Amino acid sequence: MSLTIAIPKGRLGTQAIQMFKAGGIGESIDEKSRKLVFKDEDINISFILLKNSDVITYIENGIADIGISGKDMIMEKGADIFELYQMNIGRCKMSVAGIKGKKVFKDDTIMRVATKFPEITKKYFDSRGQRINIIKLNGSIELAPILGLSDVIVDIVETGNTLKANGLEVFEDMYHISAMMISNRISYKFKRKEIKKIVELIRGEDEDGQ
Ligand code: PRP
Ligand code: MG
Repeated sequence: MSLTIAIPKGRLGTQAIQMFKAGGIGESIDEKSRKLVFKDEDINISFILLKNSDVITYIENGIADIGISGKDMIMEKGADIFELYQMNIGRCKMSVAGIKGKKVFKDDTIMRVATKFPEITKKYFDSRGQRINIIKLNGSIELAPILGLSDVIVDIVETGNTLKANGLEVFEDMYHISAMMISNRISYKFKRKEIKKIVELIRGEDEDGQ
């Protein structure tokens, strides 16, 4: 039976590809080439390289059977997928941050929050009854409070270097994030054996890497 695996381009994908290769699959993948589809012909497994935010779309639509996505994307999209395995890579936090020493959680005015994650942000502040204005950005979120576009940001913090370099600090941690192996729901029913093999392989490499 054939299997298609969706891999996000970038650092997370590079780590995942290393794990696949260490586990003996993904030999056809050449990250240096501009190709986006690779196939291990002998084991009938295809690998597609996608933008991080598109992995879920391909899996939800059954084009890819399984794949790797950050938990942040899964939460943001409210993805209709099956979570197979929480990986040890891509570990970071989602946090509320702002200008160092200027923590603002004002009650009197509506706080402006800049983020790449409007859905997560809305749910988080809704759940504690705080009204906010969300400013959706696509990157360089840290600029927003510095330039006065927002009061705070909601963003991913990994090493904290970006915050520090821009004179910001964490005000509040929201969620732990890591990479997840995910599956299309129907694929998981009909290709369970094949999928479990891949999960076991990744789990082995993941634990070795610790
Ligand atoms: C991510 C994230 C933070 C930074 C966190 O940005 O949005 O800005 O990395 O990492 P750190 O805590 O180790 O500094 P990314 O580099 O993906 O750029 P972008 O936000 O402009 O897309
Ligand atoms: Mg950033």
